[in-house]
Amino acid sequence: MSRKKLLPPGESLLHPITSAVEPIDLAELFPLEQPLELELGCGDGSFTLQYALANPDRNIVALERLLGRITKLDRKGHRAGLKNLRLLRAEAAYVLEYLLPPELLDVIHVYFPDPWPKKRHHKNRLISKPFPPLVKRLLREGGIVYLRTDNVEYFEQMIEVFGGAEGFEPVETPEPMKQLVTDFEQEFNAQGIATQYAAHRKIGG
Ligand SMILES: C[S@@+](CC[C@H](N)C(=O)[O-])C[C@H]1O[C@@H](n2cnc3c(N)ncnc32)[C@H](O)[C@@H]1O
Repeated sequence: MSRKKLLPPGESLLHPITSAVEPIDLAELFPLEQPLELELGCGDGSFTLQYALANPDRNIVALERLLGRITKLDRKGHRAGLKNLRLLRAEAAYVLEYLLPPELLDVIHVYFPDPWPKKRHHKNRLISKPFPPLVKRLLREGGIVYLRTDNVEYFEQMIEVFGGAEGFEPVETPEPMKQLVTDFEQEFNAQGIATQYAAHRKIGG
């Protein structure tokens, strides 16, 4: 069994979740008060690292459930001296539903979420009918959800669930953001599989 090399608490960007019921005040995890973004399922975090480096005026929280992946990003973020990146090791759906205060987030990123291609597994997909109302509660007005996938059928589901949800309008993903490629994206693109992008802005009350 491989042993994950954890950074000591004083160096680690990982915020330990100590309560299953108390909301985490994400803004308090950072030295500077600035726009707050959340990435769900960041994996090894190539996008996260590039994005945090390119946007020192934004605070980024990256969430991932696999220890090996989040630990890798922790070491990279620490080496890069990032002050605007914090990490959570947790189950995304639980955190979204129970552990975040409302209307705090400016952006949510979800890139290449597990596609669960078999029909009987579709119920496990993160971007399904309950997702837009969950993230609507967490976003400030005007906040944006950015999505990417390689899976055309899952992409159609993403468009359908946001199209059918109240309080969102489709927007474009900015080109500079598209230039920051994720780990999975790099692999898919190298195989000739194109990235599908979707973005939706919270509107109304
Ligand atoms: C296909 S990978 C994509 C990783 C990264 N976003 C990328 O594009 O390279 C999906 C990631 O989401 C994580 N993940 C899947 N479901 C999750 C959940 N419910 N909560 C937290 N992380 C999850 C997986 O462990 C995995 O690292």
